[in-house]
Amino acid sequence: MAKQRIYIAGHKGMVGSAIFRQLKDQEVEIITRNRTELDLLNQQDVQNFFKNEKIDQVYLAAAKVGGIHANNTYPADFIYQNLTIQNNVIHSAFLNGVKKLLFLGSSCIYPKYANQPMKEEELLNGKLEPTNEPYAIAKISGIKMCENYNRQYGKSHGIEFRSIMPTNLYGPGDNYHPENSHVIPGLIYRFHEAKINNLESVTIWGTGIPRREFLYVDDLAEASVYLMNLDKKTYVSKLSSLSNHINVGSGKELNIRELAETIKEVINFKGTINFDASKPDGSPRKLLDSEKISKLGFKPKIGLKEGIIKTYKDYLKVYKNF
Ligand SMILES: NC(=O)c1ccc[n+]([C@@H]2O[C@H](COP(=O)([O-])OP(=O)(O)OC[C@H]3O[C@@H](n4cnc5c(N)ncnc54)[C@H](OP(=O)(O)O)[C@@H]3O)[C@@H](O)[C@H]2O)c1
Repeated sequence: MAKQRIYIAGHKGMVGSAIFRQLKDQEVEIITRNRTELDLLNQQDVQNFFKNEKIDQVYLAAAKVGGIHANNTYPADFIYQNLTIQNNVIHSAFLNGVKKLLFLGSSCIYPKYANQPMKEEELLNGKLEPTNEPYAIAKISGIKMCENYNRQYGKSHGIEFRSIMPTNLYGPGDNYHPENSHVIPGLIYRFHEAKINNLESVTIWGTGIPRREFLYVDDLAEASVYLMNLDKKTYVSKLSSLSNHINVGSGKELNIRELAETIKEVINFKGTINFDASKPDGSPRKLLDSEKISKLGFKPKIGLKEGIIKTYKDYLKVYKNF
């Protein structure tokens, strides 16, 4: 039998490269294109690519991604680029015979005041967090694209387009930019800088009290491949009617102070940590309910400290090239 031809969109990103690591030793043919070879914002080029490549499965991990600062500064880019990339890929995949597609979303699709832990059913139950609303609206549209393509074409064309909603991710390939990064890579950068410059302390925004959940990116990649390969009957057995997205988190929460102390220890920074309580805290708690994926048989393997040790090793490699 011919090998499955699997396209990873965004294979150079943190998530896409972890999915690549997950699939590279399997009996499949992996297809990739970097942005210069294929700009996913260009509809005609995306259509030509799918027409020529005869793809069987797609992991859609290409997106415009960033932290609060980037979302606040470039809201138009976040909504336009994410909608365009996913519309181009999902529709062209459908037109060209792709049967299975996994769309990568994010926990920010859930309302700002969603019940915690956030179940999949919280989607569209309330107003979004305004800062990342443009990004979240695009991601919700991606979930709805997958759901409605299944609804209209699932039986006639045998397609299964699924969506996975990860909690905060971290790991190799993360973005360590001092302003545009997420919390773990941002803290790794700051503690490392403080260590090598012999600073006495590091000051962190907010009170340190908000609680957050984190998942190592290779666990997410394993969950993605697991969900993609589940048979339809098993997959839908855990879903509400028509709804098609599944959460994946570690199920373990900790506060920002505990996180900072773990990173400080891994980096071996000897100074103190201060909290600037005059700066905003964000939501008090953001935890995904990952019961559905757990019942489907997937459990993450890499604990937070182990994951931070691996990530710091990656940072040191990147750091040499700064
Ligand atoms: N990071 C997280 O904490 C997190 C959490 C939950 C969900 N997710 C989801 O996971 C997905 C991937 O995130 P990530 O963290 O891996 O982001 P990332 O590291 O920024 O990777 C995104 C990838 O998409 C590519 N890309 C963007 N625009 C493109 C275009 N127009 N044409 C071709 N390629 C394009 C980028 O290419 P370049 O290398 O050329 O820029 C990059 O390789 C996103 O959908 C995100 O919502 C991430």
